[in-house]
Amino acid sequence: MEPNEKYIAAENRYADMDKNYNRCGKSGVLLPKVSLGMWHNFGANDPYERSKAITHYAFDHGITHFDLANNYGPPYGSAEETMGRLMEQDFRPYRDELFISSKAGYDMWEGPYGEWGSRKYLMASLDQSLRRMKLDYVDLFYSHRFDPKTPIEETLQALVDIVRQGKALYVGISNWPLEPLKAAVPYLKERDVPLLIYQGRLNMLNREPIETGILEFCRQEGVGFIAYSPLAQGLLTERYLDGIPADSRMAKEHFLKSERRTPELLAYLRQLEAQGKAHGRTIAQEALAWILAQEGVTSVLVGASSVKQLQDNLAII
Ligand SMILES: NC(=O)c1ccc[n+]([C@@H]2O[C@H](COP(=O)([O-])OP(=O)(O)OC[C@H]3O[C@@H](n4cnc5c(N)ncnc54)[C@H](OP(=O)(O)O)[C@@H]3O)[C@@H](O)[C@H]2O)c1
Repeated sequence: MEPNEKYIAAENRYADMDKNYNRCGKSGVLLPKVSLGMWHNFGANDPYERSKAITHYAFDHGITHFDLANNYGPPYGSAEETMGRLMEQDFRPYRDELFISSKAGYDMWEGPYGEWGSRKYLMASLDQSLRRMKLDYVDLFYSHRFDPKTPIEETLQALVDIVRQGKALYVGISNWPLEPLKAAVPYLKERDVPLLIYQGRLNMLNREPIETGILEFCRQEGVGFIAYSPLAQGLLTERYLDGIPADSRMAKEHFLKSERRTPELLAYLRQLEAQGKAHGRTIAQEALAWILAQEGVTSVLVGASSVKQLQDNLAII
């Protein structure tokens, strides 16, 4: 696509509706089995043309769900600004076909009101997110982490009120432990803002939501579950089999440290590679298929630094 060419979404993007979407818990919402996360690769330091190519490819192939948070970038806020630019230039005509989420919980701005779970922080942060993304509302707004020092009712009531104000259509919870999650579900249900979805880290190397019972609890309660870092930030792919590529997340030594590339991991990956070959799948596809086979999982929330990676991941469905 030329830089000034108008974006027109692929006509056949919903050709495989029955195959590509899962119902989110007991809600009316269908989410794509593969959703796109914008934590990395979509900030101000990343080439905009590449962000554009990846998001276009996603939407052209039926990925309707894009996941953001206030502090995605770097710098913080800039992934949402990229989404705002995409909205203005390409996606506005398709707004009703998109399911866009954002979150607040981690450190975003200085001072006492820039992180955690107070009403003050959540309300202000969502207003900022809407401005950056050039949206009137988000489809889904999350509490990004549990705040043990704020009364749980304050955080949850802020989520309820955000929906009442029309700034979000649904609410979600991410990274909360099981006990407060168990309190959140009835609180929200009694106020007619049922919890739509839980976002937790789940992959073949980290099975915490299964071990803690969170996935099973969500399934029983009719709450959807979306698995973040399904490829363990790239570890569960071919990316690091033969070294650490200079353009990889691990090479940055920040969120993914090179110490994770152990002989045990490499042996595990070789095993997965062989297993994948038997199924006609890549390592990444094998890892995503494992998650989607878990009962209660609605979607895998992948990241991608190229169209080719996304293409590989999408081939799973
Ligand atoms: N709620 C939370 O607290 C939380 C936390 C983390 C993430 N998330 C959400 O989950 C999303 C995904 O997280 P993530 O980026 O860690 O997910 P991931 O899918 O586990 O890792 C994505 C990275 O893996 C590599 N990759 C992806 N597909 C590949 C393929 N087919 N072959 C080779 N390498 C491949 C790329 O690494 P390179 O960049 O090195 O190429 C890519 O950036 C985030 O964007 C965010 O929306 C939420």
